[in-house]
This record gives sequence, C-alpha cells and structure tokens, in this order.
Amino acid sequence: MPHLQAKRILLGVTGGVAAYKAAELTRLLVKAGADVRVVMTEAATQFVTPLTFQALSGKPVLTNLWASDADNGMAHIDYSRDVDALLIAPASADFIAKLAHGVADDLLSTLCLARTCPLFVAPAMNRQMWDNPATRRSVALLRSDEVMLLGPASGAQACGEIGPGRMLEPAELLAQMTLNFQPKSLAGKRVLVTAGPTLEALDPVRALTNLSSGKMGYAVAQAAQAAGAEVVLVSGPTCLPTPANVQRVAVRSAAEMAVAVNAALPGVAIFISVAAVADYRPAQASEQKLKKTGAPLTLTLLPNPDILADVASRPDAPFCVGFAAESENLLAHGEAKRQRKRLPLIVVNRVQDALGSDDNELLLLDDAGSHALPRADKLTLARQLIDHIANLYSLKKQE
Ligand code: PMT
Repeated sequence: MPHLQAKRILLGVTGGVAAYKAAELTRLLVKAGADVRVVMTEAATQFVTPLTFQALSGKPVLTNLWASDADNGMAHIDYSRDVDALLIAPASADFIAKLAHGVADDLLSTLCLARTCPLFVAPAMNRQMWDNPATRRSVALLRSDEVMLLGPASGAQACGEIGPGRMLEPAELLAQMTLNFQPKSLAGKRVLVTAGPTLEALDPVRALTNLSSGKMGYAVAQAAQAAGAEVVLVSGPTCLPTPANVQRVAVRSAAEMAVAVNAALPGVAIFISVAAVADYRPAQASEQKLKKTGAPLTLTLLPNPDILADVASRPDAPFCVGFAAESENLLAHGEAKRQRKRLPLIVVNRVQDALGSDDNELLLLDDAGSHALPRADKLTLARQLIDHIANLYSLKKQE
C-alpha cells in the first residue's frame, strides 16, 4: 500500500463492540506503513484495553483530556494538528451526535473539533439506532460539514438483529483510507462511468434484468473521484449509496442509459462502461399488467443500442474503457470484444467471481498485452484500475 507509507493517522476508538475490530485495523494500517496514534474514549476502554492498541501501534494510547503527555498542556489541540487524517472507528451513535453538534467534552471529541485534517467516520451501532431520526439528522449534518462517512455495512449485529449499522470490516476501511491518499492523477478530468444492471419493462410490474449489483461500477466511480476527477455516474437500479462528490444520474432501461450517457458526454475525457447493459428489450412493453392465460407466452426481443460501441466510434470519442464478464476463455473472449468495439482497454472478469460479490479479480487487456489484478475487494481493484487508466491516458495524450 504505497499510498499509506509514512502517512500520520490518528485513530479514534469509541465505545462499541466493534472496538475489537479497531485492533485489527490498527495492525493493517501499521503494516501498510502508516504512522498510527490511537485515542480512546472512556467507553472504548470498557471494550478493549489501551494496552492492546499500544502494542499494535507502538505508541502510548491517549485517553484522558486532563492527563496527557503533551508537555505544553495542549494535547486537545496538538494531536490532531500534525496528522494527515483522523479516522473514528468505530464511531458510536453517541459520538456521532457529539461530533455533529460540536460537543467537545473529552479528548477525542476535542481533537476532532480542533483538527485541520480530513475526518473519516466509520459508524457502528444497532440498526434501530442507525435508523433513528436523530442519528439520521446527525449524519446529514456531518456530511454537510464534509466529514467522510465510511459505511456502515448491513448484516448480522452483535445484538442478534440484522440490518444496517455494522462497522465496515478492517480491510474495507484500509482500502477506503488508501483511496484518500491516492495521487490526483485525474485532476481536472471529467470521467463518465456507467454501473449496475438495466431493466427492460415487460409490463408495469415485470421486467427483464440481470444480477449486477453495481458494486464494481460504484467502486470505479469512487476511485476516479478520489483521483481528482469530476465524475458522472449513470446508474441502473441498485441499492447502493451514491459515492461522495459524485454526480449520479439514475436510469432504468438501456435506452434511458444511452440518452443519459450522450447527455453527459460533452467534456468527458474518459468513459468507463462497467454497466451490465441488456443486449435486448421486449419489442413491446404492455401498458397494462399482462394476464395469465395458461397458454405459452412468446416474447419478441429487439436488440438494444450498444452504448459503448457507439461512443467509441464517434470522431470525438473520449478514452473508452469497456468491461466484459465472461464465464470461460477470458483472454480470447475479452480481446475479441476489445477489437470489435475498438477500445484501448477492456477489463475482463469471471461472471462467477464478479456478479454481486464484494471481491473480484481483473484481467486488463490493452495494446501492450494483459495485466492481472489479483483477487481483492472491488474498491482496491478500482483504485489499481484507475492508476492504469491514468497512465494509458497520459501516454495517449503524449502521442
Ligand atoms: O455490478 P457488480 O455486481 O459489481 O458486477 C460487475 C459486473 C460483472 C457487471 C462488471 O464487472 C462487468 O463485467 N460489466 C460488463 C458486463 C458485460 O459482460 O458486458 P457485455 O459483454 O455485455 O458488454 C461489453 C461492454 O459493452 C461493457 O463495457 C458494457 O457496459 C458495454 N455495453 C454492452 C451492451 C450494450 N448494449 N451497451 C454497452 O455499453
């Protein structure tokens, strides 16, 4: 993780069961080369001892506003002044409410208020606490104050309930932090990304669609934004939140996606087509709900426009990157698609690995040959892909 090398990160740990995961996060950050100092709230020390974090970070852990080791008595200011980022993980509902309202009644909240660096917050709480209107208000306030929210994830919770509120896993938080320090290789560039499935209506309640979750495309949009690009994300229907500082245009069908892509194209330097666009649509979408008759139903399907091929064939085409999900012969099928659509770069993934999953494995095919990106979470892969695209793009500009 070269981007985290020697980066100074203040890790704030607040009171919650997920505090034990912050120990693993500390280990991963240190392993990635970061210089980590840990600050714990009093509640956090009820879950994990400061000694654990001291051993993992190699530094004394700060817990007390009044008994700090800063020799000028200014610990509440000093410790967040010379760091590159402040990350609160886990961030309890109580701490998020304090942050949102500028309450500074312990060392960690005071450091947050006195910071001059970016602040990242990884919420962790029971799903009902997360859904509570008070928490929603606090989170909205933090977002408007440009605090970066990492997660939460959804799933089984320590209380036995299932829902949103789980802290992101340490590896995911590491990927998010790495992204923050990514070189701004696309600064000033406008990047257009498509993501997710398309949905082709049969009638008002039924549609033809596919299993794309949008995760890969959203990760690409997030990584491009972190690399300094102005990003427009044209997305089919997904359940994912819009990445911070990305402009999202929601569409349903391939035809709507084509319209949205064409509308966003002026000024676009790079087009990355990650969406799983339906190749066909029903010849007619019934305005009324189709009735069951008991007889076989035959659907006539018409081909959809190939959005990527159409953009790539324009005389003023941006740098176009395609994706291909294949179930076999990845290299041969991917390269054939790249040639057919006249793309400088295509990204091939195995359907079985890619669709809906959090991890993936990519094979990049360009004029220089193939480059494998080994299995990792989609955000890490997206960051590596954006590095590759930025290199190819700048080489092309020098031609
Ligand atoms: O969303 P996830 O669950 O994270 O899954 C990610 C993914 C598997 C959907 C993604 O990584 C991926 O591989 N997307 C491309 C899927 C595919 O196989 O596309 P295709 O072979 O049908 O099309 C090739 C390229 O042309 C793609 O860039 C596609 O966006 C584009 N295309 C295809 C058809 C069409 N009508 N218009 C297009 O623009």
